[in-house]
Amino acid sequence: MKIYQILVFISLFIPIRAILGFDSINPISTENFTCFLKEGYEFYIGRIYKSIGEVDVTVMENIKNAKKAGFNFIDGYIFPCLMTKCKTAKEQIQDTLNFVQNEGVQIGRLWIDVQDGDIYWELNQSFNQAFILEAVKEVEAMGLKVGIYTNKTHWEKIVGNEWNAVANKPLWWDNWSGKKSFDDFVPFGGWKFPDLQQFNPEYKSSCGVVIDESWYP
Ligand SMILES: *[C@@H]1O[C@H](CO)[C@@H](O)[C@H](O)[C@H]1NC(C)=O
Ligand SMILES: *[C@@H]1O[C@H](CO)[C@@H](O)[C@H](O)[C@H]1NC(C)=O
Ligand SMILES: *[C@@H]1O[C@H](CO)[C@@H](O)[C@H](O)[C@H]1NC(C)=O
Ligand SMILES: *[C@@H]1O[C@H](CO)[C@@H](O)[C@H](O)[C@H]1NC(C)=O
Repeated sequence: MKIYQILVFISLFIPIRAILGFDSINPISTENFTCFLKEGYEFYIGRIYKSIGEVDVTVMENIKNAKKAGFNFIDGYIFPCLMTKCKTAKEQIQDTLNFVQNEGVQIGRLWIDVQDGDIYWELNQSFNQAFILEAVKEVEAMGLKVGIYTNKTHWEKIVGNEWNAVANKPLWWDNWSGKKSFDDFVPFGGWKFPDLQQFNPEYKSSCGVVIDESWYP
């Protein structure tokens, strides 16, 4: 066999390593994060902006504690505000990322949470589409990477499944099967595969905190 054939052959039998991480809006101490590291979790994603239109001070402490404990991969997400008295998408992103900068922390990527259309989004899909585009544009204008948290059910309701204007951004797929697997993924919004899966919500971890588990291959 040629060397590349051997490599291909070997790679077929090496299991894909699942990188495990979590999000949680509960207070998490440095000790808790140290425990999570020991348990094999490698990334934390914190909700930096709330749907009621304010930044999340508790989660900011979490992000700092994650860093202190030695987490190398820390991302953030924004749960956008579309109720009354909300700022524009652009202003919400600015508030979020200015908060990050003023607190002296760094995040790898800002995810935009697109879920529960009945409660948190407008009925007008064109409005929602414009909102998401403006948010994505502003994150990138401020020099950060952006991604989308959603699934087919949410996407269909909020922007329509055929809307694919942000398909070139990574997808953090909300699919609570309890299994670390993309096998069930049905394409929507132009995405052919997810990049990350939130697979196990409200998990009572052994580190004393309730978390939503995610993974990526
Ligand atoms: C829906 O939103 C779009 C974009 O903001 C706007 O132009 C349009 O007038 C809205 N339609 C309704 C029925 O409110
Ligand atoms: C999307 O997530 C919601 C929970 O947030 C769940 O009820 C629904 O089944 C999910 N849909 C898909 C297609 O994964
Ligand atoms: C996961 O996604 C698949 C494909 O969209 C869907 O059929 C399934 O119901 C989802 N599972 C959950 C638990 O939401
Ligand atoms: C998690 O943190 C809380 C508060 O700091 C603490 O009471 C609890 O013992 C911690 N659990 C672990 C496993 O570190």
